[in-house]
Amino acid sequence: MDIKQVSVIGAGQMGNGIAHVFALANYQVILHDISKDALQNALTQIDANLTRQVSKGRISETDKQGALRRITTTCDLENCGRVDLVIEAVTERESVKAAVLEDLTPHLNHDTILTTNTSSISITRLASRTDRPDRFMGFHFMNPVPVMQLVELIRGIATNEDTYQSLLHVVARLDKTAASSSDFPGFIVNRILMPMINEAVYALLEGIGSVEAIDSSMRLGANHPMGPLQLADFIGLDTCLAIMNVLFDGLGDSKYRPCPLLTKYVEAQWLGRKTRRGFYDYSGDVPVPTR
Ligand code: CAA
Repeated sequence: MDIKQVSVIGAGQMGNGIAHVFALANYQVILHDISKDALQNALTQIDANLTRQVSKGRISETDKQGALRRITTTCDLENCGRVDLVIEAVTERESVKAAVLEDLTPHLNHDTILTTNTSSISITRLASRTDRPDRFMGFHFMNPVPVMQLVELIRGIATNEDTYQSLLHVVARLDKTAASSSDFPGFIVNRILMPMINEAVYALLEGIGSVEAIDSSMRLGANHPMGPLQLADFIGLDTCLAIMNVLFDGLGDSKYRPCPLLTKYVEAQWLGRKTRRGFYDYSGDVPVPTR
C-alpha cells in the first residue's frame, strides 16, 4: 500500500517525535490530542528539534519549513481516520489505548492501516478492540524519535503480510531500521532494557550506590550513553512502571516485580524530566541527583 497521509494520536513526547520524522520524510501528518495546549507544546517542541537539526547541518531550513507545513493539528478524532496510516501514541495504559482505538475505528477508511506505538502491551489484545486485526500492528519508536535508529515491528496473531510489508517500506522511507519482534510482553527492547532500569532502582533502594554512582558506573563502565536512572527519568517513571507491570503480569515471573521505590516515585508524581523531578531534580540549569 502506498502510504502518503498519516495521523498520529497523542502529542506527547513520542507523538511529537513521530509527527516530526514523518513530516520530514514528506508525509502529510495530522497530529491529534485531546488538549489544545498539548498540541501547541508539541508544535513548539517539533520546531525546536528541527531547528537543532538545522543548526547541526543535518537538514536545511527549507526541509524544516516544509516539515512544519506538512503538520496539521486537531482535537477531534473524527478528523483522523481518512488517512492511509494511523499511529496511536497515547499514554501507556491499556484501558486508555483500547478506548482510543474503539473511538477511532468508526472513522477509519476501509484500507487504513492502524498501528500502536505501545512499548509493551499485547498487540493481539489491542487489535481485538478494532474492526481490523488483519491491518493492525505494533509500530514502536524509541525516544528521542528523531535521533534513535530503531523501530520495532510487532505482528499480532492476525496481522496480514501486506500490512507488515507496508510498514517495512515506511521504516525504510523514514531512513530508520526495523527489528521484528514476536508479540510477547515488552517485545525486544523493553524486555531487556526495563529489567536493567528496575535493577538500578533496586541498587539505589538497597544503598549499593548513590544516583550518581549508579549512573556513572553504567555510563563509564558499560559505555551506555545515559545512566539507567537518567534514562528512566528521560523515558518517564510512570512509563517504566507501566512496562514493568506488563512484564510481571504477562510473564508471571517474580524477577519482573517492579521495585517498590519506583512505585513510590510514581505515587509521588515524581515522574522524571516531564515533571521536573525524578531521580534527578531538573528545576535548575543542571540536573541534581535526589539521593
Ligand atoms: N530531536 C532532534 N535531534 C536531537 C534530539 C531531538 N529530540 N535530541 C538530541 N538530538 C540530537 C542532537 O542534536 C545531536 O545531534 P548531532 O549528533 O548531529 O550533534 C545528537 O542528537 C546528540 O545529542 P546531544 O549532543 O544534545 O546529547 P547527547 O550526546 O547527550 O545525546 C541522546 C542525547 C541521543 C538522547 C543520548 O543521550 C542517548 O542516546 N541516550 C539514550 C537514549 C535511549 O536509550 N533511548 C531509548 C529509550 S527506550 C525507548 O524509547 C523505548 C521505550 O518504549 C521506553
